Amino acid sequence: MMIPVEISGAAAPPTPMATRVDGWTVLEYESVSSSNVVAAALPVWHAVRADIQTQGRGRFQRSWVSDRGGLWLSAVVPAGSTPEWKTLPLATGLAVCDALAGLGVNELRMRWPNDVLVRNRKLAGLLLDQFAPGRVVAGIGINVQNHPEASDQRLSGQTCRLAELLRTTPDLRELTSRVLWNLRRVIEVLATGSSGLDALLPRINQLWAGNRRVELDLDGRLEQGHFSGVDRAGRLGLADDHGATTFYDASQVRHLTEIEKNP
Ligand code: BTN
Repeated sequence: MMIPVEISGAAAPPTPMATRVDGWTVLEYESVSSSNVVAAALPVWHAVRADIQTQGRGRFQRSWVSDRGGLWLSAVVPAGSTPEWKTLPLATGLAVCDALAGLGVNELRMRWPNDVLVRNRKLAGLLLDQFAPGRVVAGIGINVQNHPEASDQRLSGQTCRLAELLRTTPDLRELTSRVLWNLRRVIEVLATGSSGLDALLPRINQLWAGNRRVELDLDGRLEQGHFSGVDRAGRLGLADDHGATTFYDASQVRHLTEIEKNP
């Protein structure tokens, strides 16, 4: 679910370096507050990458550690009004996983709605903001050579980074280009409508890595059940012990805790 967001004090730092990559225009900055905020005013197929973010944003107004050496990227993509587009956040996760798999990262999986994990550690997070009708800013943070736990000790043991997973770590420009290439492909498929979703949805659902018992924090109310994947509106399916499934929109779920994985 994308929530319209108002921008305050969103002045971009001057004179970014602009490059063209696979149909995208990428503006590169040394430092920004949040690349999503800088990208808010840009047209579709533009992207912002920054070496550091001073106010990196995560879901639910959390902050996102954005130290040097990570990929902090925001891509402006079209957003249609047909139902398929509700899966855009999940399709973005698929594109990021495709890009990482293409580099040789193994054991990738998604934790609903927008965490990219290797085994149980978070490698990447996504934040989609809708600042204006018809376009969405897809914010993508990937730990590469950075050390997020050095900035926030609570992250210790929770995160991983590409430098630990690959023999050769890609540079940030190569990674940017791979992510944007995959994102554009996925969006082109989504834009074909219902048949595009038919192609994407099984691939998205495969990334959850099995039917898991989970607990949802529905803004204070806790609900347990089995995560049974996502539907065509991008909602999470939670099956109770009697087999009845309730669907929840991403905006309803403050947190999902994985309890166990079925064999
Ligand atoms: C999350 O897991 O809570 C989402 C994290 C999203 C972080 C990225 S980094 C690039 C973009 N700019 C931001 O301020 N946030 C996103």
